Amino acid sequence: MRLIIEADYRSASRRAAEHICAAINAHASSAPPFVLGLPTGSSPLGTYAELVSRHRAGAVSFRNVATINMDEYVGLAEAHPESYHSTMRRNLFEHVDIRDPNIHIPNGNASNLHQECLDYERKIAELGGIDLFFSGVGRDGHIAFNIAGSSLRSRTRVQKLNPQTIAANARFFGGDASKVPTHAVTVGVGTITDARQVLLVVSGEEKALALQHAVEGSVTHMWAITALQMHPDAIIIADEPAVSRLQPETIAMFRFLERDKY
Ligand code: GLP
Repeated sequence: MRLIIEADYRSASRRAAEHICAAINAHASSAPPFVLGLPTGSSPLGTYAELVSRHRAGAVSFRNVATINMDEYVGLAEAHPESYHSTMRRNLFEHVDIRDPNIHIPNGNASNLHQECLDYERKIAELGGIDLFFSGVGRDGHIAFNIAGSSLRSRTRVQKLNPQTIAANARFFGGDASKVPTHAVTVGVGTITDARQVLLVVSGEEKALALQHAVEGSVTHMWAITALQMHPDAIIIADEPAVSRLQPETIAMFRFLERDKY
């Protein structure tokens, strides 16, 4: 695992965008699309803003990119401003040159949700797997909607949301937890860790405990983020408040490893 420590959210977001752009640009435009897994939530917003400005500056094109979103609420209309369909359009898709058929987000209103989950996994396989899965993390260490107890080999499925996750997401629904959907379709931990590379942005003191588990803890299904320790190419970009619970020796070691990289 690589741990890249940046001073603040802004520089962490810039670094993540730089990494994503470099990966897209390194991919041949004549090849099948570069497959990019994408998160929602507030953590990726700075990265999305940075990707949009780099696209506007002509530094990156999404013409040959296919996206796989991590999750979507069950039973929330696609047109609802807080559906992940809407937030992705608003924050990224409508500002870049991605082709509509290349955008993939689970359908939380499918009449057969079980089939929808199987189809979503099949779609990923048809695309040749995910090249780079970009992710945030919940305060309790969940990735996508893989809350505590999710199998580290889980695949796309319907997940019941726990009260902590609902409370954390209530801010997007006017602070009213009763408006947050109770279930979501989510890719599994196994779906994420099957990606050839995984990139996480972790920001703020409220994520420090999750990051401590991710970097210094043991692999456990109680903290899905710890599955990254088993991934051959996982990169965490964290800001200083997020690393505040790590041992000074741990921070020094990762800073040392990141110096003069080739
Ligand atoms: C939700 C999303 C996750 C996200 C998490 C943290 O549960 N399904 O993908 O990582 O929230 O969100 P935030 O970045 O807003 O803290």
